[in-house]
Amino acid sequence: MVDNKWKEAGYVTEPVPAGTDLKAEIRRMCKEKNAIIMAHYYTDGAVQDIADFVGDSLALARQAARTEADIIVMCGVHFMGETNKILCPDKKVLVPDLNATCSLAESCPAKEFGDFVKAHPGHTVISYVNTTAAIKALTDIVVTSGNAMQIVNALPKEEKIIFGPDRNLGSYINAVTGRQMVLWDGACHVHEKFSLERILQLKAQHPDAKILVHPECKGPVVKVADKVGSTAALLKFSQEDDAKEFIVATESGILHKMQQACPEKTFLPAPPDDSTCACNECNFMKLITMEKLYNCLRYEWPEIEVSPEVAERAVRPINRMLEMSK
Ligand code: 13P
Ligand code: SF4
Repeated sequence: MVDNKWKEAGYVTEPVPAGTDLKAEIRRMCKEKNAIIMAHYYTDGAVQDIADFVGDSLALARQAARTEADIIVMCGVHFMGETNKILCPDKKVLVPDLNATCSLAESCPAKEFGDFVKAHPGHTVISYVNTTAAIKALTDIVVTSGNAMQIVNALPKEEKIIFGPDRNLGSYINAVTGRQMVLWDGACHVHEKFSLERILQLKAQHPDAKILVHPECKGPVVKVADKVGSTAALLKFSQEDDAKEFIVATESGILHKMQQACPEKTFLPAPPDDSTCACNECNFMKLITMEKLYNCLRYEWPEIEVSPEVAERAVRPINRMLEMSK
């Protein structure tokens, strides 16, 4: 039974009973309810460790599309839960805290984006997966950082394209492909904050370290990268490359998996421009805790809802992405 006060909070605020073995109880409830836990690489290490599946945005969408579970618990941000719900309308999709939004999704309101699209007739609309369902409903093809380049390259050279909402990812694709996509002016508050100067200082102290950069970072940071890619691509590179040290310019949660996979290597989080804050942490992802995950499974709440009209339009560009990046 879901209490109304929880609805206001956006998550179940009830304290977990003292002495609860969180890990054992979470796994027990998953089995009992035929639920699958999916987690993004930016969530807390403990959340990643209890999950059935951990991945980047693309892998999470693919996994949702093929799961046979009745309940998907998406340990990540709201748009990830929405994407799962759009792909699996008959399943119950839960996100342990509805306050886990995303600054990129927030930077692109549907009314303004709709006007932007109208102001550019004849353009194909490509939206990054970090958007609300309402934006996806206005989109021709959804992309993730893992397939954006491949999908843009698959379109004819002369095709006019609107790309939103991340201006940094859009600029990076424009620079590499020579396209002139029209860009929406959005950005991620975590990736915008990495300091080129402080990354270069760190590199001077660790000259053999390879620099790994997520394409949501600003252009000057992307330029000094040894590898630019999605979280999954950066993780793979860190496992396959011979380097023993890596400077990692993306949300620091990924270091958990990198370090687990390669305990003998050293992973240094890239410093943000403000040394007094933990700016390389996504405060939205970190809202997902083991306690909220436990309560979410126990009460099967909060549930992600997407109106059938929006879902019907939003599923097409997501399926197009999945088709184009098989
Ligand atoms: P990935 O698709 O690389 O996992 O990135 C998601 C994200 O939110 C980056 O900030
Ligand atoms: Fe959104 Fe940035 Fe957090 Fe990724 S790191 S979920 S883009 S706010």
